Amino acid sequence: MTDQLILDAPAKINLTLDIKGKRSDGYHELETVMHQITLADRITLTALQQGIEISSNDPELPVGEANLAHRAASILLMRNPGRGGVSIHIDKTIPIGAGLAGGSTDAAAVLRGLNVLYKLNLSMRELMSIGLEIGSDVPFCIQGGTALARGRGEQLQPLPHMKLFFLLVKPNFSVSTAEVFGQFDSSKVTNSPDTRAFLEGWHHCDMISICHAMENVLETVTAARYQEIEQIKTRLVKRGALKALMSGSGPTVFGLFRDEASAQQAGYDFSTDNNKAVFLATSY
Ligand code: C5P
Repeated sequence: MTDQLILDAPAKINLTLDIKGKRSDGYHELETVMHQITLADRITLTALQQGIEISSNDPELPVGEANLAHRAASILLMRNPGRGGVSIHIDKTIPIGAGLAGGSTDAAAVLRGLNVLYKLNLSMRELMSIGLEIGSDVPFCIQGGTALARGRGEQLQPLPHMKLFFLLVKPNFSVSTAEVFGQFDSSKVTNSPDTRAFLEGWHHCDMISICHAMENVLETVTAARYQEIEQIKTRLVKRGALKALMSGSGPTVFGLFRDEASAQQAGYDFSTDNNKAVFLATSY
């Protein structure tokens, strides 16, 4: 039996993010285009006789039951008794609390990996359904690529692949997704994404329409509270980004660039800021 597996756990960004209303279960009804990027954690799973152990290169990462990767392993192993345990090493590159689904993608990789390691033969649909118990972004992280997501984020319509170039800038603070959603007030929204125009543009690889249609309504919460977000967006556009937007609930901002060289060039401008983390990425 293979007793060790190494998996990539890619981050996601939201190319559009719209909120259509509040649901009776307390979540928000989303309409968002999620896009997997090459910024990724690396997960090593090693079969154990029993128990779940987590370790990481990042001392800030909780290694107990609060870690979504731990929850993923715990649910899967509890529902498939007698298989043994697992040691999970998380080599963290994706910043924590950044709006990039770092915790969700680690959990997704653990579900995919344990399915192989322990030959559980669960379908993608079954894995995604377990994923939703862990977090709203986990089903997308299992499916990957680019998708229009509705509902809590689990109703996924895959979109064709397109290779895009990004520079990500994360200020040195984190936000709580629950808090940002909790403070969302639709009456404060002035710029919503035009999702229909975005999809039309996407299918025609029309970057002008795509960029024109991209917005994130959660900026009304996070960017209103932290001026730095708007400052980073302006700076990215000045440095050649075709569009700059906050991802998810923030605070990471990404610039979308024409090509890798332009993204890299813009990156030099931020490289002297030691209060920001900067990452170059392309579509995964
Ligand atoms: O599903 P997950 O635990 O990742 O979501 C974190 C928080 O984000 C939720 O507790 C909820 O407050 C908010 N959320 C929401 N509507 C969604 C997804 C997340 O209100 N569709």
